[in-house]
Amino acid sequence: MQPDIERVLISREQIADRLDELADDVARLPRNADGELLIVCVLSGAIVFVADLIRRLPMKMRIGLVTVSSYTGKTTESRGPSMPHPFRVDARGRDVLIVDDILDTGRTLRLVQAVLASQKPASLHTCVLLRKLGVERSDVEADLVGFDIENVFVVGYGLDYDGHYRNLPDIAVLKSHLYDR
Ligand code: IMP
Ligand code: MG
Repeated sequence: MQPDIERVLISREQIADRLDELADDVARLPRNADGELLIVCVLSGAIVFVADLIRRLPMKMRIGLVTVSSYTGKTTESRGPSMPHPFRVDARGRDVLIVDDILDTGRTLRLVQAVLASQKPASLHTCVLLRKLGVERSDVEADLVGFDIENVFVVGYGLDYDGHYRNLPDIAVLKSHLYDR
């Protein structure tokens, strides 16, 4: 995999440092009397981020998983998000934090937010590891953001291109000939 990398955008050390700060921010979000947080992990890209984030959280918590997919095969163009599986998260009356890997067009986050909001949670916040700059997106913002990045297609730390590279420990840009647009 290493020979496929053009450049590392965010190193594993930078990610680890920022996660310490993000965990403090998550701990300060409002929670009701039982203090419990429901973390909704958007699959598959957020798995590595969620795994590292939750081990820094001190409070009682549960995880809910939602599958959203926007890309099919060798493309870096989103086709619009869809949720192929039945939605099994019960957010009613809970303090909820949606965690996703990256905020690009915002369509994924908007879809997940809308479905969870319809369940009447006590509170609903969002956290993304990455946010792409210079992308038009209306009606959607993340409450917590790890890093703002330039508008390039990135892989690693959970993010994939055509299903690969999720296991790279750093966030990187691939050599351009590998992107088959
Ligand atoms: P959105 O719906 O356009 O905001 O796209 C969000 C989803 O698309 C993310 O959860 C990712 O799974 C995927 N995505 C967007 N940009 C990238 C990227 O640069 N690399 C890998 N996946 C991406
Ligand atoms: Mg995703």
